[in-house]
Amino acid sequence: MVLLLFGPPGSGKGTQSGLITNWLHIPSISTGEMLRREIEEGTELGRLANGVMAMGGLVVDGLVNRMLLERISQPDCRAGFLLDGYPRTVKQAEFLDSTLAARGLPSAIVLHLDVPFPLLIARMNSRRQCPACGRTYNLLSDPPRNPAVCDIDGTVLTARADDNEAVFRERLRIYDELTRPVLTHYRGRGYHRIDGDRPPKAVFEEIVSILDAEARDRETQPAL
Ligand code: AP5
Repeated sequence: MVLLLFGPPGSGKGTQSGLITNWLHIPSISTGEMLRREIEEGTELGRLANGVMAMGGLVVDGLVNRMLLERISQPDCRAGFLLDGYPRTVKQAEFLDSTLAARGLPSAIVLHLDVPFPLLIARMNSRRQCPACGRTYNLLSDPPRNPAVCDIDGTVLTARADDNEAVFRERLRIYDELTRPVLTHYRGRGYHRIDGDRPPKAVFEEIVSILDAEARDRETQPAL
């Protein structure tokens, strides 16, 4: 099973990705997380990505496609995987389609988390992350016990570098211009729109029923 978690910045892709992979035991691949790791490690790719991400733009297709290809070529991806934040352009979607076909993998199931933009800005302003374990919180909807530190390891929580309002608005603009057209590319083949303006548990329950139905339709074992 190849799953694409699709949606604008802050729509809950990372949150749902954690719930889905705990359930299905398939690897979750976030191109945003991979790029942030490259930046932290000071690699050549990280240096190229850093300026683009700080401005809210997209890293060029060729670099992201190559990074993605390397990751999904690893043995843990043989039985399927979940992509969070990829593809983000029609060119990336075409690259993914041809890669899946060349490897004899099933076509992707697209889970589109739809959330109105004004709500996303509020979510972004209140998102906090633990730099040690990566746990994401929301000061409004999913607060830590102590607003300053991680429940799990007590590390001081931080806001993401690209979570300031001007950059976030640019990320939303880029989503509209370059990423939303990817939905047209997938419409009619494994595409599912999900109302993401509900509590995470309700969103996850809908995803479970969609994937159960897809598994039945595709006559695969739910492995679910
Ligand atoms: P990336 O890291 O992928 O960020 P994004 O797509 O902008 O999405 P976010 O991580 O901001 O949000 P999310 O949807 O995961 O929401 P979350 O679960 O955290 O990309 C960052 C950058 O990397 C891009 O701008 C680009 O530059 C580059 N990049 C990445 N992939 C690329 C690609 N393929 N090509 C080119 N460039 C690429 O939730 C947000 C907040 O809301 C949290 O606080 C959470 O607790 C809360 N929340 C979650 N669900 C709910 C809910 N249902 N109700 C209320 N609150 C909720």
